[in-house]
Amino acid sequence: MKVGRGALIVVEGLDRSGKTTQCQKLITALNEKNQKVKLLKFPDRTTEIGKTINSYLVKKSNLDDRAIHLLFSANRWEKRSEMLQDLNDGVTLIVDRYAYSGAAFSAAKKGLELDWCKSPDSGLPQPDLVLFLELSTSVAATRGGYGEERYETTEFQKKVALNFHGLKTEEWKVIDAGRDMFEVHQDMLSFVEKTMEKVKLQPVGTLWT
Ligand code: TYD
Repeated sequence: MKVGRGALIVVEGLDRSGKTTQCQKLITALNEKNQKVKLLKFPDRTTEIGKTINSYLVKKSNLDDRAIHLLFSANRWEKRSEMLQDLNDGVTLIVDRYAYSGAAFSAAKKGLELDWCKSPDSGLPQPDLVLFLELSTSVAATRGGYGEERYETTEFQKKVALNFHGLKTEEWKVIDAGRDMFEVHQDMLSFVEKTMEKVKLQPVGTLWT
């Protein structure tokens, strides 16, 4: 008997909000419950496009702002068919960053409009749930400090935070990431499980169309 499709769950947030740790905790918890689940991360730095992105992020190369934006988007498009296949096979995908990071980060740069930034991702699989980990930029900066990569400055992150808020839609849940790690996890897991149940018999949607 067909058990239905998996859910597309996206975890977004500012740098240092705990996204990566929380994604791992979701995978572990769902595995323990014998759910079919996979972790994806954007940018995926392992592909050819991803390697170019990595070189840009670690400041080994410079690229035009629009060119790098399109590469981040292409890095999602190259995963599209695999994602759809997994979802239709009943696998729930936990995705660490997605098109929302794409738009929010690029639109924080001078001269790049949010609408222009959204357009290359239009038509990608639509997330069923976006868990946005909210943390003030000042608290984020105290969590070990920012690293050496591009974008890791408080001023830039403030602009990104504003852009994220402009992207919120009804499938977003804002999670207070300043709390105890376990409390944050429990909250997120409960939203994920409800969504998995809800979307089982629904088709996968398309983003920003
Ligand atoms: P990531 O590898 O998630 O780094 P971290 O684990 O340190 O958060 O993302 C690297 C940077 O790339 C991060 O500053 C956000 C930015 N980014 C974009 O500018 N556009 C995008 O489409 C994505 C997915 C990330």
